[in-house]
Amino acid sequence: CGIIGYTGNRPAVPLIIEGLRRLEYRGYDSAGTAYVQDGELRVVRAEGKLIELDTKLAALDTSQARAGIGHTRWATHGVPVERNAHPHIDQDGVIALVHNGIIENYQELKDELAAAGHTFRTETDTEVIAHLIGAMLNSCIVEGVPEESCMLQALSRALQRAEGAYALAVVNLAEPDVIYGARHASPLVMGVSDNENFLASDIPAFLPYTRDVVYLNDGELVRLTRESWAVYDSKSLTQLDRIPQRIDWDIQAAQKGGYKHFMLKEIFEQPLVVTNCLTGRLSANHARVTLPELEELSTPERLHIIACGTSFHAGLWAMYIMESWAKIPTSVEIASEYRYRDTILGKGDQVLVISQSGETADTLACLRKVKQQGAKVIGLCNVVGSSIARESDTVIYTQAGPEISVASTKAMCSQLVVLTLMALFWGRRKHVLTEAEETETLDALRRIPEQLEAALPAMREQANALARQYSGARSFLYLGRGPCYPLALEGALKLKEISYIHAEGYAAGEMKHGPIALIDPDFPTFALIMCDDLFPKVQSNLQEVQARNGKIIALTQDDAVLTLDSVWKIPRSRGPLDVFFALPALQLFAYEVADYLGKDVDQPRNLAKSVTVE
Ligand code: G6P
Repeated sequence: CGIIGYTGNRPAVPLIIEGLRRLEYRGYDSAGTAYVQDGELRVVRAEGKLIELDTKLAALDTSQARAGIGHTRWATHGVPVERNAHPHIDQDGVIALVHNGIIENYQELKDELAAAGHTFRTETDTEVIAHLIGAMLNSCIVEGVPEESCMLQALSRALQRAEGAYALAVVNLAEPDVIYGARHASPLVMGVSDNENFLASDIPAFLPYTRDVVYLNDGELVRLTRESWAVYDSKSLTQLDRIPQRIDWDIQAAQKGGYKHFMLKEIFEQPLVVTNCLTGRLSANHARVTLPELEELSTPERLHIIACGTSFHAGLWAMYIMESWAKIPTSVEIASEYRYRDTILGKGDQVLVISQSGETADTLACLRKVKQQGAKVIGLCNVVGSSIARESDTVIYTQAGPEISVASTKAMCSQLVVLTLMALFWGRRKHVLTEAEETETLDALRRIPEQLEAALPAMREQANALARQYSGARSFLYLGRGPCYPLALEGALKLKEISYIHAEGYAAGEMKHGPIALIDPDFPTFALIMCDDLFPKVQSNLQEVQARNGKIIALTQDDAVLTLDSVWKIPRSRGPLDVFFALPALQLFAYEVADYLGKDVDQPRNLAKSVTVE
């Protein structure tokens, strides 16, 4: 979703709409704005594209407002209707706010506020935050907190109660020219200038007006007026020293977050994607998975996973953990094959369809086929309200945000997170996983965003160096075993999709039954060899390649001792969770090769983001 806030000399509303338009690339399903005019707090919202909001506003006089906030929503859960669109207001109608993120404990807060007499108009967590701030504001007034610091105090108190992720922009009736913002685990940046200041989730929103930005950190609160801006620690309200940074991006670069391509931006977004995907899905003490979407369903006796492309590879990876952690017999099928087979579903079997877009024709056809056979279908989708999401018996959303690059990266990462949670959920239900195993796995999963964030820059450098060395190859072999086998398939797919170099993914142990005939000094092998039980097995497969003078890039981990042409070490996690480092490495290698060869990375020839035909 996109957020913008403005305070300055110019009419605020047209500026806000224009800013939202520059965030349109992030996807749209509803939009809204809030501002104070003629002593009233006004909120205007509309379902659908920005033009709908624009039409509504055209009928209103907004010319007096000099400050306000705006939002574009890309639903991650909850239907995209006007009622759920932002801004949301508090009980007394004196505060309006827009929010990106998820408030995990909103139900508890809502119950508390409802008991104190609050009534809610929507089902959203955002409305609860608006009410909470409103309630805190009232107590500040009652306590006699000086008027000018009431809002800051109220925000600080409310945010100390809120758990989860948020970027907020807030306006209030008492201060028509002031906007407030706060950030925790969801991006927010200020654009500062003479006589006007901005707040936004993304720089393009205000780029035509200022290039001086202040990136906010977690736990920071800001107050912006026309002539001033101040950053505070949201708990202590101590004012913090911040120096604006000047950026020299154009709009296109800014939409890509300063990255050369959307694909690269999306690869680097993966730490945030893991965080977002986990938000709201862990118990308060972080020791248990909570997946209400699965509560009502029984545990599958057998699981049939159906998908296409990258989503199929995510499914194939999941087979390993479904079998080892949840002891669920699992088969993984390519949708275009499954739909025309005489497939057999047992009683108690369930089907899991995985689709980023939720619109892939073959996957959708399989969903309809198995539903006709009476199977229960779980959908794993990124796009809210998509066909697969609507037709599944239950849908789990990956919450990865819109993926713009045709070659899928962060969507797969988010699928892997949810699949991990599903395996843990069923594993515990079936008592095949101990509580300690679940907690330790979740601990490892929660550490990934930070570890990955730290590792990505060096991984990119390594990928770049290898790309220069190997991009002359006409063909590549990708090898992996166990949970690294699906990754070998995905690595090969990424390379061929965007660099047009032929690549074949193979199970390392199967290589001797054919592909080994191809090995020569001009046919490099990209091997995944993690420090697990299969290490010696893969090592001996690689010796077979070496013996035929094949060049090898080995993706491995710190403790590995390997003498091969190129050894690329990535951080370790817990068992199959190594995927969260191996996957970005494969993506980065493909990206760097394609970019080095000057290919159109974001829009590769002949490919579509969503294949809605058979
Ligand atoms: C297309 C895309 C791939 C994607 C596949 C499945 O081929 O180019 O990136 O993996 O469709 O898409 P889905 O939306 O069903 O995950």
